[in-house]
Amino acid sequence: MILDGTLPESIAAAAQALRSGALLGLPTETVYGLAADASNDAAVGAIFAAKGRPANHPLIVHVADAAGIAHFAREVPTFAQALIDAFWPGPLTLILPRLPGVASAATGGQDSVGLRCPVHPVAQAVLRASASLGVWGVAAPSANRFGRVSPTTAQHVQEELGAALLVLDGGACAVGIESTIIDCTRGAPVLLRPGAITPDQVQVACGLKMRSNEALAGQLEQAPKASGTLESHYAPRARVRLMDGPALQTALDIWAKALGGTEADTPVLAVYARVGLKVPRRQVLFRHMPDDASATAQQLFAALREFDAQGVQLIWIETPPNTPEWDGVRDRLQRAAH
Ligand code: TXA
Ligand code: MG
Repeated sequence: MILDGTLPESIAAAAQALRSGALLGLPTETVYGLAADASNDAAVGAIFAAKGRPANHPLIVHVADAAGIAHFAREVPTFAQALIDAFWPGPLTLILPRLPGVASAATGGQDSVGLRCPVHPVAQAVLRASASLGVWGVAAPSANRFGRVSPTTAQHVQEELGAALLVLDGGACAVGIESTIIDCTRGAPVLLRPGAITPDQVQVACGLKMRSNEALAGQLEQAPKASGTLESHYAPRARVRLMDGPALQTALDIWAKALGGTEADTPVLAVYARVGLKVPRRQVLFRHMPDDASATAQQLFAALREFDAQGVQLIWIETPPNTPEWDGVRDRLQRAAH
């Protein structure tokens, strides 16, 4: 059931649902989440079951404001506090040392907890209303089946998880890809998942250079934590291939030649690119990729879903530019292509 998330009665119903241990489709600025009371292990178990997600993959706990951290984290390093001051509420998740005994199921038993304070007004309203009922944290992974593309509209959530789920409609997500995740348990910021907030912004905000998880492997006291960095993830049904502009044109020419004069009833190939291409329009579903990284992030998952809905078998995508602002989009596309 989809409810208008801008109505106060929807917010109240959502908070009651969370309080009573039910699941909720929750809009945030990044993607829609599948939410439950982070302290209710049975409700958290229902999230894992609904998604088909392995129970050792920890969930992000969402809080209404920075004060909510005290319910879940043991300590907040100085550089992490600087990041909170700079970017909360917003699309940034911080991994912090966990308070013993809290949110055990949500964190997959790890001694750390991922915390995020979303800026979306509907998420904010739900988190505040829930906190007033004693629900201090809301565990919410993206509201898709495990390994699939994250939902960026309320309708996507229904497609993934069925019509029985209560979903608040908060419109299309403004960011469109999942939050930047930074591990703050290792003395310096370590990037676990790229997103809208870039390493440069992090360095400006906290004065420390962001490390990459891969570069630090072997140099750390602690092994890197399960970060959900599975290679095949965010995948549509169709096969995704990434190519630069010239390779894409060559592939299209070969494709057109192979087709000869024959015309398929429906396109089996979709192309998503920034460069100008000579495309056999009738046989190929073409969509223009914006030149701007954030505009591309905003529409990326919806575009992949639309290609799937049109029944194509192949999606050929122009590789994004090799610049930091494209890191989040490039990461999601590389996983989709795996
Ligand atoms: O933008 C987002 O972060 C969205 C919205 C709904 O807030 N949520 C989201 O959740 O993307 P999910 O579960 O799809 O991704 C959470 C990621 C996983 O890769 C998980 O491994 C990592 O966060 N994570 C959570 N807690 C962690 C922890 N304690 N240590 C290391 N990684 C953690
Ligand atoms: Mg996810």
